Amino acid sequence: MRKASLILSFLSAASASIVVGDPSDTIPASQWASDNAIKANYDVPVIYYQTNADTAPYIVKDRQHKSYQNEVLQTESNDTSVVIATNGSTVDLIDTKIIKFGYSSDLIQASFFGLNAAVLVANKSEVYISDVNITSHNGAANVYAYGSDTVVYIDNLWMYSSGPVSHGLYASGNGTIKAKNVRTYSGGNRCSSFSGDNPAGYLYIDDAVAHTSGIGSAIGFVLGEMNLTNVVGSADKSPAFFSIGDAHGSCTNCELEAGLLAGLVIFGLSEGSGVNLFHLDHSKVTVTDETAPALWFGGITAEVYLRHTEFVTESNILAVANYSTITQEFNFYAGYDDDPTAISAAHAQVYVEHSTLTGDLIAYNGSTLGIHFTDHSYWTGKGSVGYGVAHLGVSLDASSTWNVTGNTSLQNLTNADTTFSNVISNGFSIKYNSSAPANSALRGKTIKLQGGGRVSPISTK
Ligand SMILES: *[C@@H]1O[C@H](CO)[C@@H](O)[C@H](O)[C@H]1NC(C)=O
Ligand SMILES: *[C@@H]1O[C@H](CO)[C@@H](O)[C@H](O)[C@H]1NC(C)=O
Ligand SMILES: *[C@@H]1O[C@H](CO)[C@@H](O)[C@H](O)[C@H]1NC(C)=O
Ligand SMILES: *[C@@H]1O[C@H](CO)[C@@H](O)[C@H](O)[C@H]1NC(C)=O
Ligand SMILES: *[C@@H]1O[C@H](CO)[C@@H](O)[C@H](O)[C@H]1NC(C)=O
Ligand SMILES: *[C@@H]1O[C@H](CO)[C@@H](O)[C@H](O)[C@H]1NC(C)=O
Ligand SMILES: *[C@@H]1O[C@H](CO)[C@@H](O)[C@H](O)[C@H]1NC(C)=O
Ligand SMILES: *[C@@H]1O[C@H](CO)[C@@H](O)[C@H](O)[C@H]1NC(C)=O
Ligand SMILES: *[C@@H]1O[C@H](CO)[C@@H](O)[C@H](O)[C@H]1NC(C)=O
Ligand SMILES: *[C@@H]1O[C@H](CO)[C@@H](O)[C@H](O)[C@H]1NC(C)=O
Ligand SMILES: *[C@@H]1O[C@H](CO)[C@@H](O)[C@H](O)[C@H]1NC(C)=O
Ligand SMILES: *[C@@H]1O[C@H](CO)[C@@H](O)[C@H](O)[C@H]1NC(C)=O
Repeated sequence: MRKASLILSFLSAASASIVVGDPSDTIPASQWASDNAIKANYDVPVIYYQTNADTAPYIVKDRQHKSYQNEVLQTESNDTSVVIATNGSTVDLIDTKIIKFGYSSDLIQASFFGLNAAVLVANKSEVYISDVNITSHNGAANVYAYGSDTVVYIDNLWMYSSGPVSHGLYASGNGTIKAKNVRTYSGGNRCSSFSGDNPAGYLYIDDAVAHTSGIGSAIGFVLGEMNLTNVVGSADKSPAFFSIGDAHGSCTNCELEAGLLAGLVIFGLSEGSGVNLFHLDHSKVTVTDETAPALWFGGITAEVYLRHTEFVTESNILAVANYSTITQEFNFYAGYDDDPTAISAAHAQVYVEHSTLTGDLIAYNGSTLGIHFTDHSYWTGKGSVGYGVAHLGVSLDASSTWNVTGNTSLQNLTNADTTFSNVISNGFSIKYNSSAPANSALRGKTIKLQGGGRVSPISTK
């Protein structure tokens, strides 16, 4: 791991000082630099059904049950898996090594149906993986689960990949993966450690070390549902999470580092496409990109719940809600010129419990961004509008504190402490929109704050 000192803080006290490594300590990414330089190319003919039923040396199908134990299974062919389990079959992979070489010539099939994945599980099949090592090169997912009633169970899996779109654990078509004890490294672009895809993937991961180096390679790409527990991870050139559409992500006892765009990027193609939900509990996300916020919302309606959670940013920006989305390459915030068909404002509410947060809120062009502090939370920051007309909201319970670091104008301001003794103004002022229903309790009043500032209605002239 880039940060050699990442410590598995969730391990039992006896082993709490173990410094963990990830698979790139064993196989340096530099050995596979040419693989990792291959850019994902989705410019291929679209065939929107699964074409890859027979392309693997080890195929188990038609409700058969087969076990592979103490074996080395491999292939070097393009557009071919090593193991396919399909049509209601059951496969056990135990104490086994799986080695996958071979390029992908059709990233539509690879992404949506698992073509070229080292292990492909499809059509109501189940695979049990225990004590297994999977390495894939040239651009291949390690494990792919496709279709409703397809489930992969994993205990103790070591994964390495090089090349584009070689996600670690990848589920689509409503497929499910339940994993514990996982170590994964991906060196290419668009290779998330854990990834869901169209229309949904369901991933439940406990106790993992995850590392990615490429652009567009998150620790979690959430489309459907993803719950991570006890995960230590670093996404060197990506957010820790991309979450798209009305997905549901959760992260408990995680310690993650993000290197590009934001800690969490929550985006969609339309603000009306359902509510994206994300829960972070007892977690810490560090954002190393100097300009990136902890939370970024674009083109979506979203709710984020933070409990005992901490963000560390270089930018001092806590959250952005933008009239924007993310570029196809996952390397930049897209504007109207990049994609006029798929861009809209963001509407995000952030609920904070028992957390100390530092950083500013910024809303752009028609977006709304509200934040709610409860249960002894503490916020140091201010709010501002990026451009256009946009709305910000802040609410505080009586046990939470706002340490104001700049003048802030709010659409919604609610405070259970009616004297505002829990707001430290540092001489700055807070304005509120007295016509907004949320502010009715303030009745257009002006209130003096400790530190010299005041709360007052936005003048209507
Ligand atoms: C899964 O079933 C569909 C529909 O029968 C078929 O088109 C597809 O090839 C199957 N996939 C695999 C991997 O067997
Ligand atoms: C699935 O397996 C059953 C036997 O269990 C067989 O009758 C059926 O034809 C198979 N389906 C496909 C699509 O191969
Ligand atoms: C496999 O794909 C690579 C990269 O596209 C190509 O150079 C090679 O010729 C392909 N091999 C076969 C057997 O088609
Ligand atoms: C997994 O297999 C790869 C390729 O054979 C090897 O380099 C690596 O050391 C193995 N990892 C473990 C933990 O044994
Ligand atoms: C996924 O679930 C949806 C909704 O239940 C269903 O319409 C669709 O056929 C499922 N897809 C697959 C590949 O199983
Ligand atoms: C996933 O996490 C969410 C929110 O934390 C929770 O409601 C849900 O029950 C979890 N699902 C599973 C299968 O653990
Ligand atoms: C906001 O979105 C615009 C495009 O609409 C983009 O140019 C700008 O970089 C974005 N800024 C942030 C901080 O998201
Ligand atoms: C602001 O949003 C409006 C739609 O409400 C859009 O037409 C306009 O292009 C956006 N401006 C910028 C600079 O993105
Ligand atoms: C302000 O509160 C209203 C409900 O009174 C809500 O609909 C709106 O989204 C809130 N705006 C912000 C910026 O939180
Ligand atoms: C409020 O925030 C400022 C700026 O970060 C800091 O210097 C100051 O110590 C904080 N005040 C309190 C009471 O925490
Ligand atoms: C903050 O607002 C106050 C009162 O409106 C004003 O006097 C002061 O100049 C403002 N400070 C900054 C830095 O804009
Ligand atoms: C103030 O709130 C009212 C009611 O929600 C709204 O119509 C108006 O546009 C807001 N004013 C500003 C400056 O946003």
